[in-house]
Amino acid sequence: MALKITVIGTGYLGATHAAAMAELGFEVLGLDVVPEKIETLSRGEVPMYEPGLEELLRKHVAGLEGSTGRLRFTTSWQEVADFGDVHFVCVNTPQKHGEYACDMSYVESAFSSLAPLLRRPALVVGKSTVPVGSAARLARLLTGLAPAGEDVELAWNPEFLREGFAVEDTLHPDRIVVGVGGERAEKLLREVYATPIGEGSPFVVADYPTAELVKTAANSFLATKISFINAMAEVCEAADGDVVKLAEAIGHDERIGKKFLRAGVGFGGGCLPKDIRAFMARAGELGADQALTFLREVDSINMRRRAHMVELARESVGGSFLGQRVAVLGATFKPDSDDVRDSPALNVAGQIHLQGGQVTVYDPKGMDNARRLFPTLAYAPSALEACRGAHVVLHLTEWAEFRQLDPVAIADVVVEPRLLDGRNALDPAVWRAAGWTFRAMGRPQA
Ligand code: UDX
Repeated sequence: MALKITVIGTGYLGATHAAAMAELGFEVLGLDVVPEKIETLSRGEVPMYEPGLEELLRKHVAGLEGSTGRLRFTTSWQEVADFGDVHFVCVNTPQKHGEYACDMSYVESAFSSLAPLLRRPALVVGKSTVPVGSAARLARLLTGLAPAGEDVELAWNPEFLREGFAVEDTLHPDRIVVGVGGERAEKLLREVYATPIGEGSPFVVADYPTAELVKTAANSFLATKISFINAMAEVCEAADGDVVKLAEAIGHDERIGKKFLRAGVGFGGGCLPKDIRAFMARAGELGADQALTFLREVDSINMRRRAHMVELARESVGGSFLGQRVAVLGATFKPDSDDVRDSPALNVAGQIHLQGGQVTVYDPKGMDNARRLFPTLAYAPSALEACRGAHVVLHLTEWAEFRQLDPVAIADVVVEPRLLDGRNALDPAVWRAAGWTFRAMGRPQA
């Protein structure tokens, strides 16, 4: 009989995972402790912007016209415990307030709510990003609390999905990593992921600590790669070099590769910044902090980018923001997402506002979230309106829409045609030809 799957925590990761499991043919029950989330998802609506996710949900949520009916949602732990052969824990682990470590309280509460109700054999699979060592501890907690005892097993299966590509990354992962304590868990997970494995996704079996570390190591590597190119951007600016050319040239070396070498205002979002900090905190607890001191530098190079963008903007308007209008194009931490968590774009906008600039922001999808986080900034309904009357325009999130802007039309509405490209995604030649003073991070000034 086909496995029955539950997904605990229906945020960004959980909602996508639940829909993907239904797409793979399983009966799926999703749980969240926030009833409004469950109501929204049960209507087939997604509370965030993620390409393709709403379509996938609608295809499977029970009760919707034409759906397969394989996906349902609940707030009942008992229902979840009774239903599932495999329970995926997808709750988030945000950075703790005022600390580097991550907050494990949602993970703890998911395990302690579920475990005492598990009366039949089950596999609990953690997907959340956790400090190394958590899985071994949670495995003990699980068998200790579950009435089914040793028949309840734990596996750790980190998630590598990227926002904006969540559905694609979940259905066609570039690798599946599982940390298991025994063969039964591995067998069950091979069954769950039979389709992507059949399509060629590598299936890597490891122990708990290695599986936990794979996730933080991967994100640390990506963060390091971005900070590396941003450090090169600093040097290029000092030496009058061009970081975009430099990245292209080193990227031809297959060992280096072209990806994740886009210099600019740096990385943000709900993962990379908090994951490298939590990794440093955990290494410190383990007595291995020296091994990760370089991540402190990766973090500070990254944070310096934001400050540098503010400086470039201040310089461009003559040394002070007072009385200056600044247009900010982009609010989300990356394009094709409405996520503004730790967004470099909004951080820069906020800093300029605090220094007396009049900032107007436009973003294709992130306006509501941005308004909630920075209610004191001004918001415009389009890029053109955000630029109206501006003394300088800042391009801070590389939405495709911004590459299609007409530099001539925008020049007509600004006070001064000055543009700072914080993402190295606009074509300097095109903007300069339209009369703009164009400056990009790590590139020569014309
Ligand atoms: C990341 C990892 O890529 C993913 O595997 C993991 O599961 C979660 O964290 P995500 O946070 O969605 O995914 O964003 P990602 O595409 O990695 O971008 C992170 C940040 O780096 C963004 O702010 C992006 O703008 C920035 N970035 C990316 C750069 O500044 N330069 C680059 O070359 C690439």
